[in-house]
Amino acid sequence: MKSWLVPCILVAWLLPASADHCLDPPPVNYSILIVTAREERFVVTYTCISGYHLVGKKELFCNKTSLEWDSPAPTCLLGHCPNPVVVNGQLNSSKLEPVSEEEVVTFSCGTGYILKGSNWSQCQKDHSWTPPLPICITGECKSPQRPKNGHFKARDFNSGSNTTFYCDDGYQLIGAQTLQCMDGEWSDEPPICEEILEATTEVPVKAEKESERNNICESIQKLMQCQKDKGKTLEELKYSLEIKKLQLEKMKAVMST
Ligand SMILES: *[C@@H]1O[C@H](CO)[C@@H](O)[C@H](O)[C@H]1NC(C)=O
Ligand SMILES: *[C@@H]1O[C@H](CO)[C@@H](O)[C@H](O)[C@H]1NC(C)=O
Ligand SMILES: *[C@@H]1O[C@H](CO)[C@@H](O)[C@H](O)[C@H]1NC(C)=O
Ligand SMILES: *[C@@H]1O[C@H](CO)[C@@H](O)[C@H](O)[C@H]1NC(C)=O
Repeated sequence: MKSWLVPCILVAWLLPASADHCLDPPPVNYSILIVTAREERFVVTYTCISGYHLVGKKELFCNKTSLEWDSPAPTCLLGHCPNPVVVNGQLNSSKLEPVSEEEVVTFSCGTGYILKGSNWSQCQKDHSWTPPLPICITGECKSPQRPKNGHFKARDFNSGSNTTFYCDDGYQLIGAQTLQCMDGEWSDEPPICEEILEATTEVPVKAEKESERNNICESIQKLMQCQKDKGKTLEELKYSLEIKKLQLEKMKAVMST
């Protein structure tokens, strides 16, 4: 045993004698404690000495109505920073335990897991790891919310897989139709299904409107043939027809003004 391992406790009272109605703050080995007054309360703050890190509450309170400190005392454990633990990951560091100040560790995740955050961290003077310790995630996305008046199709929500959204009859899709899961996050916000509003007033049919209708019919027929050639499913065809219909309606509205 090294001689410097003898527990040392330093106490600093930064208070007038009026603090004496609180019990003596509990001593903590390998720590420095400071007592101060703050907003009608007395506060004891523990700081571990170099080479030790704090486990528990750093600050305890005591007030005029209660003589006891509100929490049990913390402890100072060996190692300047807490042992870096990354669930589902491992440390790539030869020397550890106890962790010393300024020590740098690097991390990697187990197979099937993706590292989020920094792949390295350093033990700081203030006993913290900076940058913060990373986490290892599966890369799977949370199920997206089913749009109101619509649904989605997906094989799974694993990283790289796509989810495609569809709207019910009479509704049009606003936003991205397909979202891709990328390392646990969706590529976009899920779309919404908006009601398609039919024109409320009948537009009088003029000769030029008639030819416009013929144009519409023709282009729909062309579109259907084209989609069929591309081997689209009935559902996809229906969806693209909805879009086409909307576009034509919009065009019509513009032309009639
Ligand atoms: C503090 O250290 C002393 C001496 O090693 C030991 O007897 C005592 O139990 C320690 N206190 C705590 C709370 O660990
Ligand atoms: C004093 O401390 C006790 C115990 O922590 C708490 O229940 C109480 O509300 C505190 N009183 C005041 C005036 O802060
Ligand atoms: C940490 O990540 C950087 C890129 O962000 C990379 O160049 C480096 O090789 C990684 N280090 C380790 C040990 O994985
Ligand atoms: C998901 O869609 C993207 C383009 O949007 C495509 O590059 C990728 O191959 C698709 N992934 C799967 C698994 O189908």
